[in-house]
Order: sequence, then C-alpha cells, then structure tokens
Amino acid sequence: MHYIRLLRPAKLDGRKPIVSLLITITTDLGDSFLYPDEPVDLLVSADDPVGQSVLQKAAQHQPLRWTAGMRVLDIKVPLNARLKRDDVRCTIKIHPATQPLPLGALRSNDVLPWRISERSSVSQGLIMPVSVEMVGGVCSPVALRTLQLNTCSQPEDQLNLDLEEDIGESIARHIWDAGVVTASFLADACRTSDGIRAVLPMERGAFSVLELGSGVGILGVTLALIIQKAATVQGRTLNEATVLLTDLAEAEERARSNISRSDAVLSRSHTFSSTVTLEYENLDWDEGKLGRFGSLASARPWDLVILSDCTYNVDSLPALVGTLSALHTANLKYAEDQAFTKTSVILATKPRHSSEQALFGLLKADDWRYSVLKSIPLPRLGEDDEVVDIYLLEKGDGNT
Ligand SMILES: C[S@@+](CC[C@H](N)C(=O)[O-])C[C@H]1O[C@@H](n2cnc3c(N)ncnc32)[C@H](O)[C@@H]1O
Repeated sequence: MHYIRLLRPAKLDGRKPIVSLLITITTDLGDSFLYPDEPVDLLVSADDPVGQSVLQKAAQHQPLRWTAGMRVLDIKVPLNARLKRDDVRCTIKIHPATQPLPLGALRSNDVLPWRISERSSVSQGLIMPVSVEMVGGVCSPVALRTLQLNTCSQPEDQLNLDLEEDIGESIARHIWDAGVVTASFLADACRTSDGIRAVLPMERGAFSVLELGSGVGILGVTLALIIQKAATVQGRTLNEATVLLTDLAEAEERARSNISRSDAVLSRSHTFSSTVTLEYENLDWDEGKLGRFGSLASARPWDLVILSDCTYNVDSLPALVGTLSALHTANLKYAEDQAFTKTSVILATKPRHSSEQALFGLLKADDWRYSVLKSIPLPRLGEDDEVVDIYLLEKGDGNT
C-alpha cells in the first residue's frame, strides 16, 4: 500500500487565500516513492464544517498528476477569494481521483481481496488518502487518516475511524500496513457471531485486551469499536471490556489523541449492555520482559494480546517475546479463581526480511504454539505484491 504524506504542515498564504501543500507518496516505511506504470490523478477537496466547498470554483475537480520518478508534488490550492484568512475553517482532503467514495477515507473492504472485484482500480494496489484540518486560518500540525470500517452490511453499521498521525518522520506516530490490514480483517470477521467466535476469545462477561507497540493506536482503537459491535451481534451481555494500548513514551501523545477522538464514536455506538474502556500506558518491552508492568497492565489478566508490525527489528525480538511470556506468567496468577491458564495473542506482520523468521525460534523456545489465522495479499502499485500474515499464538494448557 502507498500513503499520501504531507512533508510539512499545510500553510495558508497571501491575502487571496491559497493553501500550500507539499506532498509525497511512499510506502509505510517511506523507503520507496510511488513509481506507477500509469500516471495517478489526485484530487484535492476543501470543505467547511457543513460540507460546502471553500475552493475557488476553477480549482474544483482539477486533477493533479503523480507520475513515475516523482518524489514530491507542490500543490497550491486557491480558496474562495471572499474568505477572510482568519475565518478559514475547513478540512482539506487529498485522495486518488479514482478511489471509491467516501472522499478522503480508505474503505476497509477495499483492503480485503475477497471483498473487491478484480476490475476495481483498487485491486492493483491502494493509495491511502490524507486529510488536514484548518481552523481560523491555521493548519493543524498533524495529519488525519480515515478508515471506514465495514462491520456489517447495513450503512449505519459503518464506522469512520479518524486517526491522527505525525507530519514528517517517525516510527511510533504513523500508521503501518499490517495495522490497516489487520483492523480491516477483524472488522470483516466480526460481522457475524461465528466470525467473532473464530477470532476473539470472548468467553466471559468481561473481555480485556492489551496491545503492544500500538503506535497511533489503529489496531487497538479498531478492536474497541469491534468489541462494542460484537457484544450486540452476539446478542449477549458483555459486562465490561477494556482495551489497553501500550508503546514507548514517544507514542503516547498521538495515541491519547486518537483515544479521545474515538471516544465520540464509541459513545455513539454504545449499547446499554456493554461498556468498552480504551486506555493508554507506556510499556517498554525491555521492562516487560522482566515482568515489570505499569499499574494498568498489571491490574488484570488479559484475554487477548494484540500487536501489528512490531517484528521487523530483529534486535528487539527477544525483549518482545520475553514480554509476551511475562504477560502469560502474570495471567497465571489469576488461574485459580478465573481459569486463566492459557494466553492468546493475535500477531500481525508484513514480512520485510528473512531475518524476521527468528521470531518463530524464540516463540518455540518459550513454548508458544502458533498458527496462521489469515494470510492477506497486499498488492502494490508499480512494485511487487506484499502479504500481511496474521498469526494466533497460544501458551498454556488451554483449559479456559
Ligand atoms: C512499525 S510500528 C507499528 C505501530 C502499530 N502497531 C501499527 O501497526 O500501526 C512499531 C511500534 O513498535 C514500538 N516499539 C518498538 N520497540 C519497542 C519497545 N522496545 N517497547 C515498546 N514498543 C516498542 C514502536 O514505538 C512503534 O510504535
């Protein structure tokens, strides 16, 4: 998958308001620029809070073009000349011209090969749109990614998830392919009761999920929304659910912002019979492997641990696997009264290098069992296809 990225915050210039956007289109790692066989047309929209375009008439529907060999694209967007600079309040969206509606959002269905037709433009590879908000003529210093999660066939069951990410370089403060694909897979799988049973070990009245290396929170936040839906689909009471995102301190600010953003969606889809609490706490695997957890991570047993795109750095694999095993040991403390004898993990990875296979040796050495839950091909425009592998890991005797 490729991502449209702002290289610096958008800027509003001049008396006649013109927005300057400097963008690039790269992979999640940022290691290669989009090099398409055919030029890719992009569209820019700028709508005020009631959905009216604030673009100058002549600038509306004017495509911009990204061609092979490009590294940046400098975009000037003229706004309606009658607007006073300080009054400009809008959301600017940059998206591929051919991408299906809604504008500025990536549909989770378009990520899953079994949901798209071969003739659809997205079957060749996706380009994730980007949005930026402008209030009082000042552009937000963060970019927004919108994922439209199709959790059911009814339009009212679609959830638009807005996630903030940094403008510029960072690992913890961006979304990554494995997170997007796994979030889409879980939303799709949990459309039915059977699907929920197949992927989520929701066997008690309470359900607790801990995410490792959550980054901006795409997977954990999605799962919180899915759990809320799942409780309704299953038609039985889920008294209490917790999703705890964890990462290094550098991820905290963005993760907390995204939790706040998702609280509005969670409360909209709130049923009187279930409550999902979404929280964040720092957890460095170098501490976790020693069984040193913060107050939230050590407050309860975890029915499920989730992680996506955390296994690309071979040097950190021992600490990561050590943390998983330490979480299992912590779970066993609850074994007597709550039958917590097995720990389940959903681990998603987009293999980038053969050295990452070391993960499986470390898992085996710590008595983790693993199986592939789903292997999802990820086509890329102008480059070799990739794949996201979603594994189920288990440790313990499984009497739960
Ligand atoms: C490639 S990002 C993936 C982020 C997110 N899971 C996603 O799919 O979008 C890898 C994440 O692992 C985190 N990470 C790396 N080393 C870590 C460590 N020692 N302890 C905790 N988190 C770590 C990074 O901060 C980063 O957020």
